[in-house]
Amino acid sequence: MSTSTAIEPLAGPLTGELRVPGDKSISHRSVLFAAMAQGTSNVEGVLDSADVRSSLAAVRALGAEVDIAEQPDGSLAGSITGWGKRGPAQPEEPIDCGNSGTTVRLLMGVLAPWDITVQLTGDESLQRRPMARITKPLTSMGAMFAPAGKNTLPLTEQGTRALQPLTYQSPVASAQLKTAVLLAGVFAEGTTTVCEPAPSRNHTELMLPAFGVETVCKPGKAQVSGPQTLQAAKVRVPGDPSSSAFPACAAVLMPNSSITITNVSLNPGRIGYVKVLQAMGAQVELQPTGFEGQEPVGNIHARFSPNLRCCEVAAEDIASMVDEIPILALVAAFAAGETVFNGVSELRVKESDRLEAIIGGLEQLGVHAWSQGDDLHVAGQPGLRVPQGLTFDSQKDHRLAMTWAVAGMVGGATVNIKDFESVCISYPTFSRDLRSLVQ
Ligand code: S3P
Repeated sequence: MSTSTAIEPLAGPLTGELRVPGDKSISHRSVLFAAMAQGTSNVEGVLDSADVRSSLAAVRALGAEVDIAEQPDGSLAGSITGWGKRGPAQPEEPIDCGNSGTTVRLLMGVLAPWDITVQLTGDESLQRRPMARITKPLTSMGAMFAPAGKNTLPLTEQGTRALQPLTYQSPVASAQLKTAVLLAGVFAEGTTTVCEPAPSRNHTELMLPAFGVETVCKPGKAQVSGPQTLQAAKVRVPGDPSSSAFPACAAVLMPNSSITITNVSLNPGRIGYVKVLQAMGAQVELQPTGFEGQEPVGNIHARFSPNLRCCEVAAEDIASMVDEIPILALVAAFAAGETVFNGVSELRVKESDRLEAIIGGLEQLGVHAWSQGDDLHVAGQPGLRVPQGLTFDSQKDHRLAMTWAVAGMVGGATVNIKDFESVCISYPTFSRDLRSLVQ
C-alpha cells in the first residue's frame, strides 16, 4: 500500500547549527568489518536507519554478537564481537538485505572466503538492481553463485577457503564493487588489486588499517594482501555528507538562510556536491576540523545564494557526488542557464531509475530536463515557483523523497509525496532536522 505525505513550505529561513546522522557508507563498513574481526570492536555514531539495520541483522544471522543500543542523540553505539578466524556460521534462513545495495554487495565479498552456502535476497527495488558486477570478479576468485549467470537477487552464494587473489580492472567506478573484491582479497593468498575508471569513495581503504589490514589507497587503485584476519577496532562514525546535502541545498535556495552543519565527513570522494554548488555561485564553504580515524571531518556552512548560474560537471567527478545528483538537479532548476551532468548512467541502477525520475519530477515543476546519451541536462529557471497541488512519486527511493520534499519546503507550495517514509533508509530525522532550523 502506498501513502501520501503533505510537505508544507518552510515558515521562514533556515538558520543555526545542525548535526546530521552518521554516514551510511561508513556505518555499514564499521558493522561488517567488526563482524569479520577477531575480538570485540566498539562502534559509535552509527546511523540508525533501515539500511544499516539490514547490515546488523545480516551479521547477527552469520554469528556475530551484536550488543548495540540507541543513544540519546539518535545514533547507535555498542560492541560487536566478530567471528574472526572461526568464520561466519551457516545461517538457517536466507539473508534479506531489504533495500540495501551496500549490505548485499559487500556481504558477497565477506562470504566468498568461507565454506558456507548463503541465500541472499532483498526488497523489490534491490531485486531489480544489477549484481553481475560483483558476482563476476568474485567468481573469478573461486566463489560460486547460483543460478549461474543470473544478474539479480535472489542468488545463492557458495564460498571457498581456496579463494584466489585477483587483479581486476573494474568497468565502473563503484565503491561497492571495489569493497566486495577487497574484502574477499583479504583472505586470499597474495595481492588483490582493483583499478577503477574514476576514483570511487575510499572508506574501505581508510578503515581497514584500523582493523590491522594495511591497504594501498591511490586515486583509481586499491590493494590488499592476504591471507589476514581483521583484528577488533574502535570506530567513530562521522556525519553523512550525503544527508548534509539536503539541508545545505535547502539553505542555498531559501531566502535569508544561513546554516552550519557540524561533524560531517569531508572525504573528497564524498563532497563533490559542495564543489558543484560553489561552481554555481552558491555560498557554501568547508571548514575542516580534524580527523575521525583516517576520515577528514569538519563543518559545512551554507547560505542563501541568489543569482545561481549553470555549470558543467565532468564524468570523472560524478562518483564523488553520485547520491547527490537528484538534489543538485533541483538546485540547477533554480539556476540561470543549462547545467550538464556528464556520465550519469549509474543513476539508472540506483534504488530507482533516478535519471528518469529526476527528469519526470523536474518536468512536473515546469522545468525542462532531458538525457542525452549518459548525460543529464537541466534548463534552469531563476525565480522558479513551485506550482500548487503537485504530487511526486518517490518510488520508495529515499533520495527522491527528500529531493521533492526540499522543492516543497523552499518553493512556496505544499507538495504531496508518495511513500515519503522511504527517508528512513538513510535519514529518518530529515523533516524534523530541517524544521528545527526554522526559528
Ligand atoms: C556506496 C557506494 C555507492 C553509493 C551507495 C553507497 C558504498 O554505490 O551510491 O549509496 O557505501 O560503497 P556504487 O558503489 O554502486 O557506486
